[in-house]
Amino acid sequence: MYRYAALVLSLALGIAFQLSHGTEVNVTDKDNNLCLYANLMVNFSVSYDTTDNKSATTEFELPETVTSDGSKCDTSSSLLKINFGEGHSWSVNFTVNGKMYQTDTITFSYNLGDTKFFPKASTNETANVYVKPHITDVGMDTCYSCKSKEVIEADSVNQTLWNVLIQAFVSNNITSENITSCAADVPTTPVAPTTHATSTAAPITNATIIVPTTTTPTPPLPTPTTGKYHFKPNENSTVCLMAYFGLRVAYKQAEMNFDPNGTTISGSCGDNTSELVVVSNTMTIMLTFVHDTKKFRLHALNITGKTSAGVTFSEVNTNLSLWEAAVGSSYMCNKEQSYNITSQLTIDTFDLQVQPFGVKNGVFSTAHECSLDDTSILIPIIVGAALAGLILIVVIAYVIGRRKTYVGYQTL
Ligand SMILES: *[C@@H]1O[C@H](CO)[C@@H](O)[C@H](O)[C@H]1NC(C)=O
Ligand SMILES: *[C@@H]1O[C@H](CO)[C@@H](O)[C@H](O)[C@H]1NC(C)=O
Ligand SMILES: *[C@@H]1O[C@H](CO)[C@@H](O)[C@H](O)[C@H]1NC(C)=O
Ligand SMILES: *[C@@H]1O[C@H](CO)[C@@H](O)[C@H](O)[C@H]1NC(C)=O
Ligand SMILES: *[C@@H]1O[C@H](CO)[C@@H](O)[C@H](O)[C@H]1NC(C)=O
Ligand SMILES: *[C@@H]1O[C@H](CO)[C@@H](O)[C@H](O)[C@H]1NC(C)=O
Ligand SMILES: *[C@@H]1O[C@H](CO)[C@@H](O)[C@H](O)[C@H]1NC(C)=O
Ligand SMILES: *[C@@H]1O[C@H](CO)[C@@H](O)[C@H](O)[C@H]1NC(C)=O
Ligand SMILES: *[C@@H]1O[C@H](CO)[C@@H](O)[C@H](O)[C@H]1NC(C)=O
Ligand SMILES: *[C@@H]1O[C@H](CO)[C@@H](O)[C@H](O)[C@H]1NC(C)=O
Ligand SMILES: *[C@@H]1O[C@H](CO)[C@@H](O)[C@H](O)[C@H]1NC(C)=O
Repeated sequence: MYRYAALVLSLALGIAFQLSHGTEVNVTDKDNNLCLYANLMVNFSVSYDTTDNKSATTEFELPETVTSDGSKCDTSSSLLKINFGEGHSWSVNFTVNGKMYQTDTITFSYNLGDTKFFPKASTNETANVYVKPHITDVGMDTCYSCKSKEVIEADSVNQTLWNVLIQAFVSNNITSENITSCAADVPTTPVAPTTHATSTAAPITNATIIVPTTTTPTPPLPTPTTGKYHFKPNENSTVCLMAYFGLRVAYKQAEMNFDPNGTTISGSCGDNTSELVVVSNTMTIMLTFVHDTKKFRLHALNITGKTSAGVTFSEVNTNLSLWEAAVGSSYMCNKEQSYNITSQLTIDTFDLQVQPFGVKNGVFSTAHECSLDDTSILIPIIVGAALAGLILIVVIAYVIGRRKTYVGYQTL
């Protein structure tokens, strides 16, 4: 089902599937007319650094299943972009030059984070190489054809192109029957026929590593790191308050993870009130716990800080009743929990465990688990399963009972 949907989507995006050899791509313009056609084979040989400081060389072919997203056609310039695998792309641009057209640059982008092609690569980065192919002076309204191999070398990448058939600036929605052949295909002087023309074009620039773009509008935040906060009033006393949690704070539209690394903690442990203050570079969090009768709860939360955009905020709620558990035990909730603290501020907690009163030997006492955790969800399932089993037994017993009576009557 998913595969089918992906196929349909791919087709809708203008992907070409190839029946014979080579990678075939049809690019259409905004009026859905064919404007760029390519059928070619490319082998890549890439050397890269591995985690154990070695250099490895990997070889792979341009696969037959590719997408052409990002390709575009214009009257005087066009771009063929072939995307494949885990974030790799091979693109070539074409420009019109009088009655001819030509290619200027091949850009090959390869994602070193793809462990299939680049096992044990030392980085995740996407590398780009730019080379200049020998595809010039192709007559307008003709296909460029080159069956011979062309090896194009750059610093750490060799690209071998062969069986290339490309037409840019296609008119009338159909590829031309007229061919412009590459020099290597044209038999000129009687050279030994076995020597493949491997014209080596000079790379126009050296390989440059580009860092993956970080300008995506809302990158999903990773799960925040769990902070482990142990508070003791002075160095000679024992730990009296413990709180472990990963925290995400959302103020208006801005979300940020609280970084426990490098925080300083302070607080107080009283008979009826305990307080924990955690200060990081960007935020100050004040948790006030109270206990009346036999239970404790988080009563107040004061979060002041600055969003990554530089907006400062200070949001306080002194009328909370969260994380309730018996005094002498701890409150625990491993699942992500979301709380609206004020109209502007919500917090998400991860791997939460707190004990603001009665800590003994610096460890948590038995935990009261929040209802969202697995164990409590399991109970209704177990009960339901048991009930279903019981019903089944009753039905079977009934059927057997009926059978026996029936048989009994027959023997009479
Ligand atoms: C291209 O690569 C494939 C597999 O890696 C290999 O079998 C083939 O001989 C290569 N072709 C050329 C022309 O290098
Ligand atoms: C590219 O080809 C040259 C010449 O054959 C060779 O010396 C070099 O090692 C090759 N580079 C890669 C990455 O395969
Ligand atoms: C890898 O190279 C770096 C510096 O080039 C060096 O500090 C490190 O010790 C090397 N590691 C190994 C495993 O050789
Ligand atoms: C690869 O990227 C992931 C997430 O972007 C990161 O956690 C990991 O450390 C990176 N690995 C290397 C080797 O850079
Ligand atoms: C091929 O080129 C010739 C001469 O340039 C032209 O007369 C002919 O119409 C072209 N054929 C096609 C199918 O474009
Ligand atoms: C890349 O080439 C430019 C000029 O061609 C040169 O100035 C630069 O140092 C080169 N960079 C590397 C990393 O080789
Ligand atoms: C901690 O104990 C040491 C020795 O027992 C003492 O010198 C020091 O003043 C005490 N510190 C505090 C804050 O009570
Ligand atoms: C914590 O921060 C220090 C310096 O600010 C850094 O050296 C260290 O790697 C960080 N640790 C973690 C787990 O992020
Ligand atoms: C704590 O609460 C109890 C009863 O609620 C009260 O008697 C006691 O005085 C309170 N202690 C403090 C330090 O406020
Ligand atoms: C909240 O914390 C900030 C900074 O720690 C402080 O200035 C402010 O007075 C606190 N608000 C309340 C109501 O405690
Ligand atoms: C505190 O919350 C309780 C119930 O959640 C509500 O009845 C009470 O009015 C609130 N008090 C304030 C000062 O907001």
